[in-house]
Amino acid sequence: MTDPIAAIILAAGMGTRMKSDLHKVLHPIARRPMLLHLLDAFDAAGAAEKVVVVGARRDQVEAAVAPLGVKIAPQDEQLGTAHAALMAKDALVDFSGVAIVCFGDTPFLKAATIARLVERLSGTDAPRIAVLGFRPDDAKAYGRIIADRNGAIDKVVEYKDASDDERAVKLCNSGVTAVRSTDLWPLLKRVGNDNAAGEYYLPDIITLALADGDRAVVVETDADEVIGINSRAELAYAEARWQAARREAAMAEGASLVAPETVWFAYDTQVGRDVLIEPNVFFGPGVSIADRAIIRANSHIEGATVGEGAEVGPYARLRPGAVLGEKSKVGNFVEVKKTVLGKGAKANHLTYLGDAEIGAGANIGAGTITCNYDGFFKYKTVIGEGAFIGSNSALVAPVTIGAGAIVGAGSTVTQNVEADALRLVRPRQESKPGWGKRFREMMSAKKKG
Ligand code: UD1
Ligand code: MG
Repeated sequence: MTDPIAAIILAAGMGTRMKSDLHKVLHPIARRPMLLHLLDAFDAAGAAEKVVVVGARRDQVEAAVAPLGVKIAPQDEQLGTAHAALMAKDALVDFSGVAIVCFGDTPFLKAATIARLVERLSGTDAPRIAVLGFRPDDAKAYGRIIADRNGAIDKVVEYKDASDDERAVKLCNSGVTAVRSTDLWPLLKRVGNDNAAGEYYLPDIITLALADGDRAVVVETDADEVIGINSRAELAYAEARWQAARREAAMAEGASLVAPETVWFAYDTQVGRDVLIEPNVFFGPGVSIADRAIIRANSHIEGATVGEGAEVGPYARLRPGAVLGEKSKVGNFVEVKKTVLGKGAKANHLTYLGDAEIGAGANIGAGTITCNYDGFFKYKTVIGEGAFIGSNSALVAPVTIGAGAIVGAGSTVTQNVEADALRLVRPRQESKPGWGKRFREMMSAKKKG
């Protein structure tokens, strides 16, 4: 039996370097708030409890995590990381197991790393605390860990309080700390604030455990996994790293990316096998692309389902609720919203399809517009199987075009069209032979005087 896990995520700080009205931990990476990436990792690690410690802008954080079964622990004054962690105690009165304390601005912490820390606590050397360490290229002002080759910690020290020799140590403290709940609360209560910052330091629980004669150990991980995000530039760098990894994964799973560095995925994009993605494609949330589909260059796709072998773009925009059937086609400068295209249906050029149902094999001519909105309400357009909509038609919803019907080019259709009928909505054409020539002769005579 493994110990139950509780996450204690500290997010009470202001995150001032972000210069934002939005709380730092809610800034998105791959279209998902960074805090939610971290919560996903704890879910994947099977965490039984998740508590977020909030202070500054707590309403924003609460609103973002409330639907996810996360508990909220307020910290009214930011007195330090140990004080913040202690605020989670009430939310975890009934919890007994391993608590993992970490920071809301390290979204890339992996489930496997959480599992490694928990496992390390059950090591035969019975450590009381396991902390996650890393060796960044630039150790900046991170807290330092002084440990032996086996990871047994001798001392931890905050940068502000460290000697020059200690600052020269490359092993840094990520802040991610695993400790049994039965040990955590008493240790946190003993932490004082007699230090350079006058704060209650979380790493002081390690110092206290060592003073008690207990063991504390460091588990190491890649710097990229735990490096914090404090500014817009660091956010952009984190996004770039996430995207690079996702592109690699898409290719490893059998998709071809012609210019991988120009394709932008969302956290939940699903891409099948033998999918071809051309350059400059942007995926918003909620997209699934089935096997053998082709996404041509410069397309913007969100909330859409693209069926097997379907073709999208170049320059297509699929908005939420676009569902493209097998082998259907959506071509250049076509926008599709809340519309289902049946198998093999085509809208190849310059079209808007909104709130529509389009039958299999239907052909939507260039410049067709579903007029779905009257400024107050939205209405539906239904186009039957095999129907043919002539170019530059306006279909004024609600309207139904029957299966196999043909709408003549340039028609503004306001009434239903029966199956297999022809609908023409345009004035009769008049033709006057020789009129052009006579007009020119008359006008040039007039001009000469
Ligand atoms: C902390 C660690 C340091 C570590 C580094 C890793 C301490 C004392 N130091 O330093 O060893 O190398 O992180 O990034 O823990 N927070 C609260 N309430 C508070 C104070 C902080 O919720 O009262 C939250 C902040 O919102 C932030 C996190 O805790 O998300 C870390 O606080 P921060 O002030 O950034 O700590 P560092 O000085 O970076
Ligand atoms: Mg920090």
